[in-house]
Amino acid sequence: MKLQAGDRIGILTSGGDAPGMNAALRGAARVAGALGLELIGIEDGYAGLLDGRARALDHRALDEAARRGGTLLGSARSKAFATPDGQAAARRQLVALRLRGLVVIGGNGSLTGLRALQGAPTHDGRELVVAGLPASIDNDVGASSMAIGVDTAMNTIVEACDRICDTATAHRRTFIIEVMGRDCGYLAMTAAVAAGADAVLIRESERTDEQLVEQVCRTMEAAYARDSGKRRVMVVKAEGVRLDSGKLKAAIDERIGRVLPDVDTRVTVLGHVVRGGAPSAFDRLLAARLAHAAVRALGDGETGFMAGWAGPGVAGPPCAYDPYVVLTPLDEVLEETRKILDGTSPIARWRRKIFEEAEGMLAG
Ligand code: F6P
Repeated sequence: MKLQAGDRIGILTSGGDAPGMNAALRGAARVAGALGLELIGIEDGYAGLLDGRARALDHRALDEAARRGGTLLGSARSKAFATPDGQAAARRQLVALRLRGLVVIGGNGSLTGLRALQGAPTHDGRELVVAGLPASIDNDVGASSMAIGVDTAMNTIVEACDRICDTATAHRRTFIIEVMGRDCGYLAMTAAVAAGADAVLIRESERTDEQLVEQVCRTMEAAYARDSGKRRVMVVKAEGVRLDSGKLKAAIDERIGRVLPDVDTRVTVLGHVVRGGAPSAFDRLLAARLAHAAVRALGDGETGFMAGWAGPGVAGPPCAYDPYVVLTPLDEVLEETRKILDGTSPIARWRRKIFEEAEGMLAG
């Protein structure tokens, strides 16, 4: 059933923040305003929903925030919401807040929470309509070729690698640069290619610790061979690789010291630097377009979907509001996400194959 002018929708950002979340909030607020819907912001993700902390969205503040990272509404990883009691309490708050719909901007856990609230009874005896937007720098959400925040994070990593490269080249050093991405090597791999790294270590390659050490040492030997003229080796390591970066360095130093005694190794863990910062133009546009399609679809009576960005592995017809957006049922999104993480999705298999092929081309 279509939403009516004056109907109230809640919106929240949840899980790890991602650059572009504010642009998504702004896009949703603009479109909701144009459709005559009342959009209210829920603070601090599901944690705020449990407390009933909601407020009107200020368009001027959103205009300013849209060019900044983080999230104006705040975010959280709520443990309480994940419990049956927590979800019952959240349903009571949806009624108390008189919400007809809910939009959630976040990653896998956030969309799982949204699925649990789909169809919850509303204050006027209807069923809650829900829409999700993928936002996670990890790019591990199914049914969207890009999640909000990935492009900015990739740019941040590339910029950091460029800087590190300057000093590495000056000293003829090897750098291991650890980047976020949780269990997904997408960010590490794409940033490594873009930054011109010599090797990438990702969980998906399923190498043992010894094989990882060997991989880096062979890369170093090839790079520093007498006639190569190379003065630096840059290794991008995904945080999903279980081998601790300090231990990796120690093992490399021990093994390579015998062959290349004058080559030093250093470790830089980029950590949360990767998650902050002003969103790139692409992330702002992606966020705005996904939010636009999601709010319009909700207004037209659709529910239980995520608005994803078209591309490889994203099946389904383009939606009526934007040819680059695909609306996929949340159940399918969550299933595809599971398969991306366990490596059985065709897109995960393709990524792994490409990772392996690119590996040989990066070195040297
Ligand atoms: O999921 C986004 C992400 O930044 C991951 O890349 C990282 O592993 C995790 O969140 C860090 O979470 P927290 O900010 O809670 O330490």
